[in-house]
Amino acid sequence: MNPKILVPLVLLSSFAEAATDPLGEKVGGDATVFATGRNAFSFPAANLTDAEQTRFVIGNSFFKRNWVQAPASTKARDGLGPHFIARSCGGCHVNDGRGAPPHDEEQAVGLLMRLSLPGVGAQGGVIAEPTYGDQFNNAAVQGVKPEGKVNLAYSERKGVFADGTPYSLQQPHYSFSDLAYGPMEKDVLISPRIAPQIIGVGLLEAIDVADIVANARQQAAENGPIKGVINHVWDAPAGKMLPGRYGWKANVATIAHQTAGAFNGDIGITSSVFPDEACTAAQKDCLASPRGAQGKAPEIDDKTFGDVVFYQATLAPPARRAPNDAQVLHGQKLFAEAQCSTCHRPSYVTTASVNPQFSSPALNRQTIHPYTDLLLHDMGEALADGRPDGQANGRQWKTPALWGVGLIHDVNRHNRLLHDGRARGVLEAVLWHGGEAEASRDRVLKMSQPEREALVKFVESL
Ligand code: HEC
Ligand code: HEC
Repeated sequence: MNPKILVPLVLLSSFAEAATDPLGEKVGGDATVFATGRNAFSFPAANLTDAEQTRFVIGNSFFKRNWVQAPASTKARDGLGPHFIARSCGGCHVNDGRGAPPHDEEQAVGLLMRLSLPGVGAQGGVIAEPTYGDQFNNAAVQGVKPEGKVNLAYSERKGVFADGTPYSLQQPHYSFSDLAYGPMEKDVLISPRIAPQIIGVGLLEAIDVADIVANARQQAAENGPIKGVINHVWDAPAGKMLPGRYGWKANVATIAHQTAGAFNGDIGITSSVFPDEACTAAQKDCLASPRGAQGKAPEIDDKTFGDVVFYQATLAPPARRAPNDAQVLHGQKLFAEAQCSTCHRPSYVTTASVNPQFSSPALNRQTIHPYTDLLLHDMGEALADGRPDGQANGRQWKTPALWGVGLIHDVNRHNRLLHDGRARGVLEAVLWHGGEAEASRDRVLKMSQPEREALVKFVESL
């Protein structure tokens, strides 16, 4: 035997055994797909049946293809607007991925502005701005005025790491112009939100409520600033209050509600959940504009609607890349040390009872690693929008899942993070963390350059 060969082999194998991530690469259990590149977020769960794959394809077409102005010859797809922001779900969730703030003079598409007045509305929800509604629509069909324009400017915020390295963040500032229906109320509250990637939302829906409750109880029992809370919100399809899981403030409980709300508010398509167009009383042109589906509401029928929900529920999270890379493993340790994992909780086993009307039993009892507690946290003044949403206050945001974050650039050719896309990459996102996450951010400020790089590399491996 040649000892020159034997020695390195032994070393290699013992190193490999010592340094592997026990969570592995399959973040979505058997639903995980192995995919990178532009379509990484667009594959069905790997464990669907043939019939389910067919339903996925049908749902996909109604998610991606443009709706058109009524009346049109394509009755199955008319009814766009009267007000809208994009012509399809995929217009904002490009390749099932993430929107970005607009450049220069461009009008915002993947970034939308939620509007409301102070106070609590029906079913614990918001009070819509009376003239413009609960969301600003900067596009409209022919014959109807767009509500106006959103303007975005940035100011710089500078800082330094403990090792003396300077950094710079960009703070966004928003304003409206060309308001078509007159001024907004003076005390209007505005919440800018970018479109997040859709992957794995069915698995998030399959997380047991008891696990979310346990996250909140555990954090409440710890000594320390991290005290996540549930946003209990009204779910229109279910007709009851449920814990919020979707949206940047956990302001929506189910994919079905989110889908009905998006069809109505973002594209102007009515459904049996939200049968009325989102025109306010002041918007006479909007109210008078022809309806789709030859005027017989709703513009999307229940079967097609269900297929679009099913499509999203079964979009697979992609597998991790290089989870056993030494730098990634170092970053994983730092992630735990800096208490990132208290809010960005790595693992769950899903329930055995997904709703087969809108999802697949293939998502039952999967061991998943989404890196979220689905709870609201006070993230400090710099991230605050000052606009309550359900039980969330103006400083609280939901911990977003981190799976797939490292692939956003592959899919969408940008790396804009946080609720309004202000952060250009993982490190900037962390530097914005304050409030309950201030100690985590301070730990990162004290990290050496190699430690910061390892932390980022770990997050990007998810
Ligand atoms: C104008 C851009 C835009 C369009 C069009 C749009 N969305 Fe969204 N989507 C968003 C934004 C912004 C959010 C975050 C909303 C929030 O925080 O309240 C979001 C959130 C979501 C989420 C929740 C994801 C999560 O993990 O929180 C789902 C699911 C979703 N959208 C589905 C859809 C569907 C289905 C359609 C088409 C019917 C659609 N969206 C159309 C911008 C858009
Ligand atoms: C107190 C809970 C909490 C802690 C601790 C925490 N986060 Fe977060 N994280 C959040 C919330 C809430 C957001 C969303 C904030 C927003 O959009 O304004 C977020 C957003 C992010 C994002 C952007 C995700 C996206 O989809 O845009 C990244 C990346 C991230 N956190 C990484 C980390 C890392 C790394 C650490 C540890 C150094 C950490 N977080 C610690 C709650 C936390």
